[in-house]
Amino acid sequence: MPVVHFVNEDKRIEVEEGANLRKVALAQGVNPYTGINKLFNCRGNGLCGTCRVEVVDGKGASSRTKSEENALRGYMPFYARKWDKNVRLSCRVEVKDDIQVKTYPEVTIDMEETKLRLATFAAIVVFGGGLLFIIALIVLDMLKIL
Ligand code: FES
Repeated sequence: MPVVHFVNEDKRIEVEEGANLRKVALAQGVNPYTGINKLFNCRGNGLCGTCRVEVVDGKGASSRTKSEENALRGYMPFYARKWDKNVRLSCRVEVKDDIQVKTYPEVTIDMEETKLRLATFAAIVVFGGGLLFIIALIVLDMLKIL
């Protein structure tokens, strides 16, 4: 049976092959979440991107998917996070063999993606605001207020 080693907590747990890393962590009292995300998270559905761990030795981990990468980057319109290839969402990792994991990997901001998101958000606000203004003028004109 594979062994999961939580390096920071110095815990080694034998698990069934294919076990979900998030469930294993929580069952052993290892909380992958920080701060407010301990309460507010997607409960293992791969959406919130908050159950991050660093897989130090990744031979026993399933591979990272595109949707996992998107969740890791985050969906906020103002910034995007950047992670090393070995940072994973614990809820998306199936343990296939022995694996070493560190909780609470360091967060960095992806400046290129952040600039792109900010520009897109600004364009939506400007054009959306302009469109709303035109619609308001049309409605006011129809109501004979102008
Ligand atoms: S619990 Fe939300 S992404 Fe893993």
